[in-house]
Amino acid sequence: MATLAFNHEAIAPRRLKPSLYEMDGISRTSVEAHYKLYEGYVNKRNEILEKLGGVDLSSANQVYSELRALKIDLTFAIGGIKNHEIYFEHLGGSGGDPGGTTRKLIDRDFGSVAAWREDLKATGMAGRGWAWTAYAWEEKRLFNYLCDEQNTFPIWNATPLVALDVYEHAYFLDYQTDRASYIDAFFANLDWEVVEGWVTQYQIRS
Ligand SMILES: [Fe+2]
Repeated sequence: MATLAFNHEAIAPRRLKPSLYEMDGISRTSVEAHYKLYEGYVNKRNEILEKLGGVDLSSANQVYSELRALKIDLTFAIGGIKNHEIYFEHLGGSGGDPGGTTRKLIDRDFGSVAAWREDLKATGMAGRGWAWTAYAWEEKRLFNYLCDEQNTFPIWNATPLVALDVYEHAYFLDYQTDRASYIDAFFANLDWEVVEGWVTQYQIRS
């Protein structure tokens, strides 16, 4: 018997908004190179699922290591897709401070937008992959979580609303090793309207 992966259909990479190519502080060259990596995660996900569909579970002992490798790589690819889709979708804006429910949530859970920004920046400086501002449903609050790889440290039942990519590939072309300046540019290009749209869509209440 094969795994159930054959039920999955291939997905296509999302296209970038034109504003992603016109940001201050995050260059078009950098975005184009970064997008290629994202496309790579999408292709990898499709490829792994296809391979999983061909794994024969009747020779179980032989396939466990293969299954393990494929399923671990799948978490990496899916993490890479989800993280980057949030990242690209909520950039291309004009930064500043959020309004609406997003603002109320940040003020309530971090004290102020400045305090939230400082905390997320520090989390991004401390991490090796991502820093997320996510809404934890059981706790009913926001928190800035740290991530080292595409597939490490996700929090179950927490919805990421801001995803700050701190992999070197996100900033090396523009800032070399100056991650702090890149994080400032990230904040300056955030599109809060998009984040507020997610808050509404997921029915997160302040
Ligand atoms: Fe990235």
